[in-house]
Amino acid sequence: MHLGVNIDHVATLRQARYAATPELPNVEPSVLDAARAAMEGGADSITLHVREDRRHMQDADAFAVRREIPLPLNLEMGATPAMLDFALSLKPDYVCLVPERRQEITTEGGLDVAGRMEELRPLVAALLQNGSRVSMFIDPDLAQVEASAAIGAPMVELHTGRFANTQGAERAAETARLAAAARRAHELGVEVHAGHGIQVANMAELNAVPHLTELNIGHTIVARAVFVGLAAAVREMRCAIDSYQW
Ligand code: PXP
Repeated sequence: MHLGVNIDHVATLRQARYAATPELPNVEPSVLDAARAAMEGGADSITLHVREDRRHMQDADAFAVRREIPLPLNLEMGATPAMLDFALSLKPDYVCLVPERRQEITTEGGLDVAGRMEELRPLVAALLQNGSRVSMFIDPDLAQVEASAAIGAPMVELHTGRFANTQGAERAAETARLAAAARRAHELGVEVHAGHGIQVANMAELNAVPHLTELNIGHTIVARAVFVGLAAAVREMRCAIDSYQW
């Protein structure tokens, strides 16, 4: 299982104090140092979400990580012409297309690939041609999986937010939806990733979801890093996901 570590929250903390004065020599914390610590802790790739409003990661962060960090870079971005231009110049190893609303706190819900196939097809083709592997961040819904395969996306990232934020019967039902979506993607030859709200505490339940090859995890790692440091927090997560049994 591949672990992508999302370090957006490190930039969120920096922006909380220094958004207006990025040129100051005392700006902290460093996104590059965070990427290095994630690598030390066992990350397989670094994930950054450059949002349209640039609320946390800045363009310069993405280019610095691309240049300085010898791990694959996974850029999460909204499916817009402006972000496509940005990705074409950054040339990340992976691009994950996500829905984006300016008011949301974090990515809420998956991308409606089935409803936007004609618009997304050329965007996926342009990214693939530019050398980035593309995944679609979708709800665990068969129609979304099938639409992603139909427009040529080689990977999907299943949204685990609902799984993470529900309990009991609702959680069991959502786990079953994730498993069905993962099976369908695998049948269609699409690589299956997952992300959102995954924690050490809920990881074991993802053993019910087959074919997962990568998890992208951010919030819990940065939250835990406050107490144990980032490399150690990544190591704890690495240990938890290494128990995945498919
Ligand atoms: N994958 C995608 C596409 C996301 O948008 C996010 C949140 O930025 C994550 C994974 C990571 O979610 P979390 O921060 O809850 O671990």
